[in-house]
Amino acid sequence: MAYNLLKGKKGIIFGALNEQSIAWKVAQRAHEEGAELVLTNAPIALRMGELNKLAEECNAPVIGADVTSNDDVQNLITKTMEHFNGGVDFILHAPAMSVNVRKGIRYPENNYEFTHKGFDISALSLHRVLQFAMKNKAINEWGSVVALSYIAAQRVFPDYNDMADNKAVLESIARNFGYYYGVENKVRINTVSQSPTRTTAGSGVKGFDGFINYAEKMSPLGNATADQCADYIVTLFSDLTRMVTMQNLFHDGGFSYTGVTEAVINQMGE
Ligand code: NAI
Repeated sequence: MAYNLLKGKKGIIFGALNEQSIAWKVAQRAHEEGAELVLTNAPIALRMGELNKLAEECNAPVIGADVTSNDDVQNLITKTMEHFNGGVDFILHAPAMSVNVRKGIRYPENNYEFTHKGFDISALSLHRVLQFAMKNKAINEWGSVVALSYIAAQRVFPDYNDMADNKAVLESIARNFGYYYGVENKVRINTVSQSPTRTTAGSGVKGFDGFINYAEKMSPLGNATADQCADYIVTLFSDLTRMVTMQNLFHDGGFSYTGVTEAVINQMGE
């Protein structure tokens, strides 16, 4: 059901790779709520061509940008502002990748070149996007930026590997930049810490099936889906949440505050 929550608003959606992507669902929901969009992803992801389907559905241009490149991010912002003839009201940050995870290198043995690359894509990219947005006055007053995080930023989930560090920094950047952007232009910045979700990035984590089933049993409401995550993020882009900023907001069916559930205890036996 649509409520016209984003009528007249304009936004940039990073990181829609395929129909499973959280960003894909956010783009669909934002469009349904009346927003106009620009879609972006790394040039290599665009070559797969899937994003064109979403672009057509949302009537949105696609502008390629590798989030580790200053030039690409500047170009994205310039072209977006030309397209909209002005700034945007919201941004979804969803790029993430860990080479150590991909190559199955355990956390204690991480290769630092890989660590740097993953950090650049998954955490520093939020700072880069915000820095270039601020320089170009690309986010309108009372704009909203949301980045996606995971509870491994606070608690240990061994196979999440160096992505745990990346998420901790991502949340810190949201908090710190949230201060500066709030003072400068009343722009709010939050992270949404989502349940494990079956996507390309999610499924790359070793033991993901066990991970997702455990979280399901440990959450009073069960795991939150990508569609439900999109619903939540749309409210954060809307004018109904103008005073929420610098927060890490759990969207996880209660997982983060649950010590244990009967379902898990019962599995432990005597
Ligand atoms: P996904 O694989 O669909 O999205 C990750 C995106 O990052 C892809 O679109 C990929 O092309 C993009 N990307 C990678 N390198 C890039 C680069 N250099 N420049 C620009 N874009 C780049 O997976 P998902 O799960 O939808 O991920 C979205 C966000 O949600 C990520 O931040 C992820 O860590 C986060 N998240 C995912 C959870 C899960 O269980 N799937 C749980 C909590 C958070």
